[in-house]
Amino acid sequence: MSAAPLLGCAVDATALEQDAEYRALIASRFSVVTAENAMKFEPLRPDRETFAFAAADRLMAFAESAGLRVRGHTLVWHNQLADWVSAAPAAERRAIMADHIQAVVSRYRGRVWHWDVVNEPLDDDGEPRTSPWFEAMGIDYIAEAFRLAHEADPGATLYLNDYNVEDVCAKSDAYYELVRELIADGVPIHGFGVQGHRIVGDPPSSLRRNLSRFAALGLEVALTEVDIRIPQPPTPESLAAQADDYRGLLDAAAAVPECAAVVLWGLSDRYSWIPATFAGFGSAHVLDDDLREKPAYAAVFGSVTR
Ligand code: G3I
Repeated sequence: MSAAPLLGCAVDATALEQDAEYRALIASRFSVVTAENAMKFEPLRPDRETFAFAAADRLMAFAESAGLRVRGHTLVWHNQLADWVSAAPAAERRAIMADHIQAVVSRYRGRVWHWDVVNEPLDDDGEPRTSPWFEAMGIDYIAEAFRLAHEADPGATLYLNDYNVEDVCAKSDAYYELVRELIADGVPIHGFGVQGHRIVGDPPSSLRRNLSRFAALGLEVALTEVDIRIPQPPTPESLAAQADDYRGLLDAAAAVPECAAVVLWGLSDRYSWIPATFAGFGSAHVLDDDLREKPAYAAVFGSVTR
């Protein structure tokens, strides 16, 4: 693994198609892109018989034309899951999951760098999260999803991904044990993704140590969804603190040779998921609503060399 993680960004499919300035910035500033939503189960699967690949195909075409690697996000998750999955008999959900993984991963075989195979399968207390997948198959759905993805694209690097696991804590401890068991069982898991959704002024205190312990299991790691939200309205002081926090995350990642990538979960406040999710917060990204550089931009682009 190279010493410097690749820098990436999650992309809004609509903005990519309608905002030429945004599109040019993504193509020129990053080495990796993740579809913020276009490759998730719900957008892809309006019904059990249909795969709506158009938006995902357009994103893949953009990435390949710009020479960008693609992180596939995400195959198996409890959220943004089509209602017809929960409505299906539990006994049919294993086949639904298998059909989905095989169709989506094989469509982009050899073209997707990483897949977030399973996203957020544990609660913050480290216990398995209830989901239509867990209800139907128990915790073994995780191993099965990885095996199916590997069979569909043996060349893809397969990740387990979650939030609130930046530090050494009960949740990341549970993942550490889960990953050890998966590896011991011969499950083709290759990476652990730490999302990195943070609040300004609350940087992780053990990120490097935490990433390093997963690397010591033989995995690569990545910061997969970095954003740092600020109480509104932002001030010069909170924007400066945000830059410091971004720099701290990037520096910790760059200190771990097995860290493959640092992916920002959005380029600009103009297209941010934060305000609709966290009332009173915003300004989480490196460019403002007018796509102008914020102090965090220099912190990010001054820290990562590739
Ligand atoms: O596509 C529909 C559109 O047809 C409809 O008109 C509109 C209004 O209802 O909703 C649109 O769907 C929205 C979707 O984003 C696409 O824009 C959903 O309502 C909205 O909930 C969804 O939010 C996404 C969120 O995941 C869902 O949990 C965010 O954009 C996305 O940034 C966020 O990303 C997740 C990662 O995938 C996993 N880690 C956590 C991260 C933040 O929640």
